[in-house]
Amino acid sequence: MSILIKNGNIITATDNYVADIFIEEETIKAIGKNLSITATETIDASGMLVMPGGIDPHVHLDMPFMGTYSSDSYETGTRAALYGGTTTVIDFILQKQGNSLQSALQEWKNRSDNNCYGDYSFHMAVTDFNDSTKKEIKHFIEEEGITSFKTFMAYKGALMIDDRQMIGLMEEVKKHGGLINVHATNGDMIDYLVAKHKAEGKYSPLYHYLSQPEITEAEASERFVDMASYTGCPGYIVHLTCEGALNAVRNATRRNQKIFVETCIQYLIIDASLYEREDGAKWVMSPPLREKKDQQTLWAGINQGLVQVVATDHCPFMWEQKLMGKDDFSKIPNGHPAIENRIELLFSEGVNKGKITLNKFVEVASTNAAKIFGMFPKKGTIAVGSDADIVLFNPNETHTLSAKNHHMNVDYSGYEGWEVKGKVKTVLLRGKVTIDNNKCKIEKGFGKFVKRNKVAQTI
Ligand code: URP
Ligand code: ZN
Ligand code: ZN
Repeated sequence: MSILIKNGNIITATDNYVADIFIEEETIKAIGKNLSITATETIDASGMLVMPGGIDPHVHLDMPFMGTYSSDSYETGTRAALYGGTTTVIDFILQKQGNSLQSALQEWKNRSDNNCYGDYSFHMAVTDFNDSTKKEIKHFIEEEGITSFKTFMAYKGALMIDDRQMIGLMEEVKKHGGLINVHATNGDMIDYLVAKHKAEGKYSPLYHYLSQPEITEAEASERFVDMASYTGCPGYIVHLTCEGALNAVRNATRRNQKIFVETCIQYLIIDASLYEREDGAKWVMSPPLREKKDQQTLWAGINQGLVQVVATDHCPFMWEQKLMGKDDFSKIPNGHPAIENRIELLFSEGVNKGKITLNKFVEVASTNAAKIFGMFPKKGTIAVGSDADIVLFNPNETHTLSAKNHHMNVDYSGYEGWEVKGKVKTVLLRGKVTIDNNKCKIEKGFGKFVKRNKVAQTI
């Protein structure tokens, strides 16, 4: 099977040029102007942007959390991702405290094996670091191809680890060439503020926001980068939302640390005023949405190279599930849906509004995640030898986001009625057309697990 994509405007993190792409089986075999090669299928990409498949390194599919499960399965979540131009996702395995990492991996495999439409990998969330977990780290990096380890400095009593565990884990991960991801907010402070607000009879979604002020994130981010500096372990802060936290990273870069930052599309474009709405629970996530001044800091951080990735933290719940917390904000399952909307929103709000260039768009939506998480150049670029993960994107088509037409398994949209300019038209994954003109062309099980390299090999 071969495909020739003709006359597209190819955009990578560094280039922008019109050429043809020849694909054989799963791989890009040639790129050039007016290629005279006969292929089984020819796609005319005139007028289209042709970019590498999006990579969303922060999603939670079918995940047990806060007494329920996130509502997108591996099937519905990875299919919705493809509709939105994301060909690879990295999901999170959660260790059960007291159990091994290996048993958690098995549990996650049971839910994901043969169920994915798009390609996927896992981060391993270590919620209980001890002598026995320590022995498993090398195996995960060297045998399983799972080279990043997630830690939580919050969700006290459930997922949170203390600083002693964090330092021990960092030393072990560093030794074997891995990376530590962190949810960096101060769990004790948040716990205190949640209890205080409830004791004062303050139960609405607004108090979710007020229980996690900027200082809780700035403090934990600073502590995390200090521990990473001490141990020499590369670190990646997930879903960074605010100025205070980014300033902690800015300081760390002065001592030449390997600290990477991810923000999420929602933190760039919507703000905390939504918590005052009756349906504010739709945007209850951790950390919460912030202020307009933080959005400016984050866009600037992207252009300064301090923020390398724009992900989603896709963690959807049906409205019925959100109602678990109708009388108490602390019982609202945390998370919001965006896996399908990320690329179109980033293009529409970022590129079209002059906040980022086309190359920066590709860098933060795909290339940097591939590099940081050990998948480059197989994923994250359009180059000879790379997987043919390619999105044909119409920069001029306008459309309206809505729960009525999205493919995520969730009965509302965080962006209902949002007008976007720019639409994903055709998506190839490993040389196969998976989405074309709003139709899915593959079956579940097409998506493959991606074994990742050691971090040191790609950054
Ligand atoms: O609200 C969120 N972010 N839910 C998912 C879990 C996490 O903290 O990433
Ligand atoms: Zn988190
Ligand atoms: Zn998350």
